[in-house]
Amino acid sequence: MKFLKLLILFVFTQVSAQQGGMWIPSLLKGMNESEMKKLGMKISAEDIYSVNKSSLKDAVPQFDGGCTAEVISDKGLILTNHHCGFDNIQSHSTVENDYLTNGFWAYKMEEELPNKDLYVTFIIRIEDVTTKVLEGTGTLATEAEKQKKIQENISFLNKTLPKEAWQENNIRTFYDGNQYLLFVIENYKDVRLVGAPPSSIGKFGSDTDNWVWPRHTGDFSLFRIYADKNNRPAEYSKDNVPYKPKHFLPISINGIKENDFTMVMGYPGRTQEYLPSMAVDQIVNTLNPVKIEVRDAALKVQDGFMRKDNAIKIQYASKYAAVANYWKKWIGETKGLKKSNAITVKQKFEVAFKEKVILAGKQAEYGNIISDFEKNYSEIKDFALARDLFSEVVLRNSELLQNSYRLYQLEQILKNKGEQAFTDRKNNLSNGIVDFYKDYNAMVDKNVFEQLIAIYAKRIPSQFLPNELNNLNAYQLTNDIYNNTKLIKLEDFRSLLEGDSKTVIEKINADKGYQILKVMADAYTKNVLPKYDELNLKNIATQRTYMKAILELFPNNRIFPDANSTLRVTYGKVKGYKPNDAITFEPFTYLDGVMEKYVPGDYEFDVPKKLIDLYNSKDYGVYASKGKIPVAFIATNHTTGGNSGSPALDAKGNLIGLNFDRVWEGTMSDIYYSPEICRNIMVDIRYVLFIIDKFAEANNLINELKIIAPKKKM
Ligand code: ARG
Ligand code: ASP
Repeated sequence: MKFLKLLILFVFTQVSAQQGGMWIPSLLKGMNESEMKKLGMKISAEDIYSVNKSSLKDAVPQFDGGCTAEVISDKGLILTNHHCGFDNIQSHSTVENDYLTNGFWAYKMEEELPNKDLYVTFIIRIEDVTTKVLEGTGTLATEAEKQKKIQENISFLNKTLPKEAWQENNIRTFYDGNQYLLFVIENYKDVRLVGAPPSSIGKFGSDTDNWVWPRHTGDFSLFRIYADKNNRPAEYSKDNVPYKPKHFLPISINGIKENDFTMVMGYPGRTQEYLPSMAVDQIVNTLNPVKIEVRDAALKVQDGFMRKDNAIKIQYASKYAAVANYWKKWIGETKGLKKSNAITVKQKFEVAFKEKVILAGKQAEYGNIISDFEKNYSEIKDFALARDLFSEVVLRNSELLQNSYRLYQLEQILKNKGEQAFTDRKNNLSNGIVDFYKDYNAMVDKNVFEQLIAIYAKRIPSQFLPNELNNLNAYQLTNDIYNNTKLIKLEDFRSLLEGDSKTVIEKINADKGYQILKVMADAYTKNVLPKYDELNLKNIATQRTYMKAILELFPNNRIFPDANSTLRVTYGKVKGYKPNDAITFEPFTYLDGVMEKYVPGDYEFDVPKKLIDLYNSKDYGVYASKGKIPVAFIATNHTTGGNSGSPALDAKGNLIGLNFDRVWEGTMSDIYYSPEICRNIMVDIRYVLFIIDKFAEANNLINELKIIAPKKKM
């Protein structure tokens, strides 16, 4: 039995050793390229990234700093997710022209809508600059000095390394500070809205289906990049012309099968794959639970009000979705980490690591890493908990405390930077806060506050609990505050900010809402933050040495750098999975499934009439597969937040879908990737084209595309 288990474990690690990873596109030659070819890829590493000729990377810009897009025509047309374009679609929406509800389509270029502040970023080239960045740091004694010198080197190199006038240099760290790469980039700032389906397609299933498979969301929107007459980046101007890309993606509607090769290119934001077991333990057993508890309480209150009151629903919909997104992710992540025994797997690795250190005779350099981690993570635990609680309760989920915190910063600015800085900030705050109160309801906030202040008092390690919250009566405190505070109405808030600095400071300090925040914030900045920062800096330094040691002592492991919002390639196969006993998920969903989920008039599961008509008449054009319209599919690509909108490509580099999410059981992939249950979710490009063609009848757009269709039988 035991032997069998071991054997199975061995076989599993062999399988897992061939999956996962977010790789640097300029470094694919060698191991990755041959693995990709083995998995079925028909193109070369040079076709993906090249400085000498056009390559796939030229068609994959970052979208607005946080998502990914892909160029799909020679006139600068780009695709990204609906949830990535959401803010821009919303900003053009009015009650009369509600593009979120009804969708938007430009049938001529003149109808495309400019977006203030929206930009896309192309990568021109990538270079290793590690030696230059680390120059002069070898002799420095302390971590703080080293970091300072590195920052100085980076800003100097960003300014001085060669680039064209319209380009920027952007140096980023990889492997926790063991490698530095330079990205020469171009930011295009005239990006116009071209098309978006109604939310009942683009956001179908909304929060209920978020992070869940099977999925039926048409999560896409279309934009166009404009450039100046020389095809270079320019601010918006009506004289700008459609951008001519170096490469755009052909679209394949040939269809996909289980086990087909796929790869995803994009800008994954942040992962922590090499954390030691104690850190993962802390996330699973201490930090995630408390963050989930806070958001759970806040969301329940908001949901109660939103269901009863439509005005509140509109006010809180977007805030609710943002808070719910990571709340739900952390729940899935915690489950997945437990289920896959991530902590035990990491502990085993640490045992092997220690043995390897001894074997290599590297005790002097690496012998203390694991025990340093042990010591540090146990010391930092209470501080980390207090920090997460403060940021979830004060900075994120209680609106009263959030606003009070803004006033707290204002008071600090006066203390530290003087009158002029104070006045500037005060005016900014007074103007900027208008938008906040548009979507504010004091009843909702009051109920949230009552819940969260109680959780805060209960969960914060007692040594950090301010006296004022000792023996807390949350009900009483809440009423006392909300009956007296000036922080719950726009006019009152602004009246607090009237007068000279002395008057303003007096007024805000007399406010009960402000008083409670000040007590909490003072205690936090004095007792938690400095020590947290100190210990965290130690962890960062130890993590860097650990990473260095892993790279050095385990040269045959599949080691890829953690995500850092730079361009990456991940690859795998189209594949279903088994989340639980007796449950097997197939990798494809269809329009039939949309109709199964349809709830007329529901805010998550309504379906537009025209789509129902198309379904009933089976007017599917060339986009059907065996008489059905494919909607979404899953694969083993290793993705994370920021990969949304990323192109899913087939073996030849043709576009077959758009990445937009991950499955519930696999959201732990940010910390521990398991090929058994980690899947990325993509909308099938045939669904996207079907909606553009048959639903929106935007032939102007279809005609721009290069579509590769199955050869017709004669
Ligand atoms: N979970 C996906 C991501 O992290 C989609 C989020 C947008 N959708 C939503 N229902 N909130 O971005
Ligand atoms: N939904 C995420 C995004 O917007 C993708 C993910 O976390 O899987 O980037």
